Amino acid sequence: MIVLSGLSKRYGETTAVRDLSLRIEPGKVTGFLGPNGAGKSTTMRMILGLDRPTSGTALVNGREYAGLRHPLREVGALLDAKTVHPGRTARSHLKAMARSNGIPTRRVEAVLDTVGLGAVAGKRAGTFSLGMGQRLGIAGALLGDPRVLMFDEPVNGLDPDGVRWVRELMRSLAAEGRTVFVSSHLMSEMQLTADQLVVIGKGRLLADAPVAEVLAGSSRNTVKVRSPQPAALARLRARLPAGQVEQPSPGELVVSGLPVERVGELAHDEGVPLHELTAHEASLEQAYMELTADSVEYAAPERP
Ligand SMILES: Nc1ncnc2c1ncn2[C@@H]1O[C@H](COP(=O)(O)OP(=O)(O)O)[C@@H](O)[C@H]1O
Ligand SMILES: [Mg+2]
Repeated sequence: MIVLSGLSKRYGETTAVRDLSLRIEPGKVTGFLGPNGAGKSTTMRMILGLDRPTSGTALVNGREYAGLRHPLREVGALLDAKTVHPGRTARSHLKAMARSNGIPTRRVEAVLDTVGLGAVAGKRAGTFSLGMGQRLGIAGALLGDPRVLMFDEPVNGLDPDGVRWVRELMRSLAAEGRTVFVSSHLMSEMQLTADQLVVIGKGRLLADAPVAEVLAGSSRNTVKVRSPQPAALARLRARLPAGQVEQPSPGELVVSGLPVERVGELAHDEGVPLHELTAHEASLEQAYMELTADSVEYAAPERP
């Protein structure tokens, strides 16, 4: 469990994170979404004690990171995959990490297997592709078998197979009851991976809800109604809130912000013969664009 309370970070004039309060719970994948510069990496660095909050606290399993007795056994993280010494082999890098953190070195072979680097474990990390570097970073996060895991943009640089592999790994770690907190700017990917979504914009919390709820809240969820009787359709239109109906043609209405069941019942009330009644769900991408567009509107004006 990760608990943030009033967490804020200022760099000079820039407020990177503003008053963030959140509980990131075990047994779920929590997706951390936001445009570039939203404050995702800064938040993760504060959770790991790599950056000091200007105010507020970030607790992992009830303690600040610096107060954890065996940090790598409690929280594993992939932040910047390029922090491995290029002259070290994957295996020697992980062995050094294990030794300095009181982790049995047999864990090294186990995590090399988990991330699929067993065959290249003797190669120097400097020769690794971006994707292999990401896998090595993930191996490091898993090394201490921690209950809490954080990944900052883990699918960057991975091919489609690698992306699917990361998704399945996140899901299986959550299924084991671990806390999995993963940032991404790839909304479509988070729609497939996450149970819970935390969306931030300009450092501010915009949404903290199950994926299904974020999707249901979108005004892009629409219901299409077609009828061969324009007069009957006009009666239905009169029953609907004016701002939520469009009429692309005389025989067709597009209704937003109402469930398909409600539209169907109103059509029945008005005796509208239907040729079509279909619900179109917004993609997470659309729901996300709406959320972050609002954040721009409500944000305090930035100094030039
Ligand atoms: N070390 C730093 N010094 C100054 N500004 C920083 C520093 N780190 C991040 N920022 C600023 O804080 C904001 C949030 O950045 P970041 O947390 O990296 O966002 P994200 O990971 O969501 O892209 C940005 O405006 C960024 O320029
Ligand atoms: Mg970042």
